[in-house]
Amino acid sequence: MKIDLHTHILPREWPDLDAKYGYAGFVRLDHYKPCCARMMIGDRVFREITDNVWNPKRRIEEMDREKISMQVLSTVPVMFSYWAKPHDALDLSRRLNDHIADVVRDHPKRFAGLATIPLQDPDLAAQELERCVRKLGLRGAQIGTHVDANPHSGRIDTLNLDNASLQPVWSAAEQLNSAIFVHPWDMLGKERMPNYWLPWLVGMPAETSLAICSMIFGGVFERFPKLRVAFAHGGGAFPFTIGRIEHAFHVRPDLYDIDNPATPRSYLAHGRTPARFYVDSLVHDKEALKLLLKLFGVARVALGSDYPFPLGESHPGKLIQSLKLTAKEKTQLFSGNACDFLGINP
Ligand code: CO
Repeated sequence: MKIDLHTHILPREWPDLDAKYGYAGFVRLDHYKPCCARMMIGDRVFREITDNVWNPKRRIEEMDREKISMQVLSTVPVMFSYWAKPHDALDLSRRLNDHIADVVRDHPKRFAGLATIPLQDPDLAAQELERCVRKLGLRGAQIGTHVDANPHSGRIDTLNLDNASLQPVWSAAEQLNSAIFVHPWDMLGKERMPNYWLPWLVGMPAETSLAICSMIFGGVFERFPKLRVAFAHGGGAFPFTIGRIEHAFHVRPDLYDIDNPATPRSYLAHGRTPARFYVDSLVHDKEALKLLLKLFGVARVALGSDYPFPLGESHPGKLIQSLKLTAKEKTQLFSGNACDFLGINP
């Protein structure tokens, strides 16, 4: 059994959101030829996509070919719309979440779902999470690595995941026993990265490390001991820079040990105890995956492919398969850890 924790889906269509909400910046789909569409923001092409993004039948065909038992569906992060007015983002989130729930309901053995929530308004976000988990049967939410503080006010004000205003979201996730999958979006420094796809190559790993460090240093895991969190792309830059991060804790406690006295390494695997949080396996490098297993423990790394996008693993699970692991360890990486994270009985 293989569960792919990290896959993205969109509905085939939705209304013109710029017109509906009365301001620009939302994504629309331009189905310009059969089986292909362009994700457009205004006149700009954000991404070309194919029908496996929206067509469950096509996804299942490809899953069967790759021997993937189940995909965990989440929206494409550009749809988060944390910059929008909160009630508009809620309206859009509800539409996307209802769609994911419909797909899961039609194919309950092949798909599980994660919601998107309007994180710019933590109370609304917590309410939508509750609706999605209790009424729609989704397993939790996918959230971004940061959120806009004053959406649609003309001010750029970004909050990291340590911000106290996010407490209602963590609290709801904990109470609902739901999973939180953190995915990079709106990459920091992107204005300095006009070429070479750098926001995806440099910005995304930095975003993810920023999110992990923010949650550790801000004491989020201390305040919400039952909160289950996984980070995309193997935790981005965090695993390789943990030595530097830990060293800084000891040499500059005045800068660092402000909100949480626990050391960063205490959140990683030690002895038989696995790390405090999960990462997916999407690192495209055998040695990097071995490092993840060492740092987080075999119980905290879960297959994730970023299907169906080109930076993902085109044969999901191939990298895990290439490692020398026991059958039990492979089962953990392929499905057991995803089940634990999502709260699914295998
Ligand atoms: Co992704």
